[in-house]
Amino acid sequence: MMAGRIPQHFIDDLLARTDVVDVIDSLLPLKKKGANYSACCPFHNEKTPSFTVSQDKQFYHCFGCGASGSAISFLMEYSHLDFVESIEELASRAGVEVIREQGFEPSQPKRDLAPLTKMNEQAAGFYQQQLRQHAQASMASDYLKKRGLTGEVAKVYQLGFAPPGWDNLLSSLGQNEESLSELRELGLVVTNENNKTYDRFRERIMFPIRNKRGQTIGFGGRVFDQGEPKYLNSPETPLYHKGREVYGLYEALKATNKIQHLIVVEGYLDVISLYQQGITNVVAALGTAITREHVDLLFRSVSELVICMDGDSAGQKAAWRAVINAMPALRSGRQIKVLLLDQGQDPDSVIREQGAEHFEQLIERSSPLSSYFFDYLAKQHALENIEGRASFAEQAKPLLNTLPAGAFSELMKKQLSHITQIGRQERGASARPRFGSSQASRRSAKKSPSVMRHLMTILLHEPQLAEKIAADESWLAIDVPGMALLKNILDILHEEVAVSPAMLLERFRGSEYEKTINMLFAEEKLIASELSEQEFLGAIERLKEQARKSRYDELSSRASTLTDEEKKEFKELLK
Ligand code: GTP
Ligand code: MN
Repeated sequence: MMAGRIPQHFIDDLLARTDVVDVIDSLLPLKKKGANYSACCPFHNEKTPSFTVSQDKQFYHCFGCGASGSAISFLMEYSHLDFVESIEELASRAGVEVIREQGFEPSQPKRDLAPLTKMNEQAAGFYQQQLRQHAQASMASDYLKKRGLTGEVAKVYQLGFAPPGWDNLLSSLGQNEESLSELRELGLVVTNENNKTYDRFRERIMFPIRNKRGQTIGFGGRVFDQGEPKYLNSPETPLYHKGREVYGLYEALKATNKIQHLIVVEGYLDVISLYQQGITNVVAALGTAITREHVDLLFRSVSELVICMDGDSAGQKAAWRAVINAMPALRSGRQIKVLLLDQGQDPDSVIREQGAEHFEQLIERSSPLSSYFFDYLAKQHALENIEGRASFAEQAKPLLNTLPAGAFSELMKKQLSHITQIGRQERGASARPRFGSSQASRRSAKKSPSVMRHLMTILLHEPQLAEKIAADESWLAIDVPGMALLKNILDILHEEVAVSPAMLLERFRGSEYEKTINMLFAEEKLIASELSEQEFLGAIERLKEQARKSRYDELSSRASTLTDEEKKEFKELLK
């Protein structure tokens, strides 16, 4: 189903045609300041500008929060576009057409899903009409009234009524083979082993589920009062994937022009009940755990999510899972908060009993991810003893490692070591990016990863310095952390002329080195170009020294078995 990849050369060309200063300035006015441009950082709160945009390097960097990247990353973070959408935006600004690689096209043409969507919409219309007209419609409308819902809000969410009986929908919409097979594929009618076909949804309140664009992709159906199962949902269909869609997003986006945050609740009725009370920025997962895909979908529309769950143990677990799933999506500028309601309460009951204002206050006071995360873990481990602190750290570390590189991730790791009071040495070692994982590189990791880091950081910012290193220099063979990445960078720079730092950054998007590269970029304090060459050559000297030292160690460890040539080399090294 995927369209072909966008080729790297197209991205390079696009970045070469784009001026990051124009792109950012169009969204966030910049002031010229020396060689660079600056503004108050859009990704964290500040009063004096520490957000800097470099025209030479074609990237931005914030000294305050560490956010940094190319024009592409800026659009992704600031405008909440995904990678491809950002490219498309830049291409349209540059007046060029996005190119896609050939050969990746699916062999069969993409299926046209419009007829299925249309059938779903007809079904939604049918259920709505039944709510108005069916002889027994009062059972549904009375129920909605009992739940305190108005006709107005029922209309917003297109609520409907599936009447009692086996073939209401079937006889109304399934007149021919074609429509019957569509109804079947949509899970609206079911054919059993005796070849009997009947309506899936009977005697239920119907909740059409719409995607972000407002297309009806599936249904949830609730029983009246008691009955099993309480909710029946559409099965997975070509239109409906419950792990990927949420309930209420279309309605929430439609209600307000600029939504700051979205509240994620558990139930359909929570969404509707909050909406009716004026809190329209609410969505619900569709009776499943909140997945990374849900989170990505929501972060495309807002930069802050409030996960609101019942305070019972199921709700607490669901909130934790949601947070864990969301952590990898927390690029700078994005935030997650958690609100756990009192035991036995849900958003519907809270707002009904205590009013919208109270609920809004709760939302305002919800816990930021940082405190929620550590509080939750603190409940699971005994922090008074070393064993407890160790298991606390063991559980937290891999989770924190899923955070994208940046200031937030660094501060969370600092907070972890603060809480667990683990010694400095260990902290230093674990906070550093892991460049390689072979035995040898781990051993030498202690030696001096910072020289390599420094060297790469300068190189990323001043790519033309690559010409100072020949591809076959012998020190490039030593096994130090980061060497593999350095060679990768050099390969790109040796091959291509005029690669800007922003292009280099984009080359590593999606690669195993992406995290490290971002961290190296974010680390740089935009040091003056005149100084960087000296520092660069100095770093190379130190690495060469390191190479000599490790060769010396190796030769002296097998002194008795050296060949004549190696003996000569050894003597040289001794000098
Ligand atoms: P009320 O109980 O009427 O207030 O509905 P609710 O929307 O608040 O539902 P509840 O809090 O009980 O459950 C939360 C969500 O879990 C629901 O909105 C459904 O998406 C899902 N869910 C609950 N019960 C069932 C069930 O029996 N089957 C399925 N598939 N999903 C369910
Ligand atoms: Mn409820």
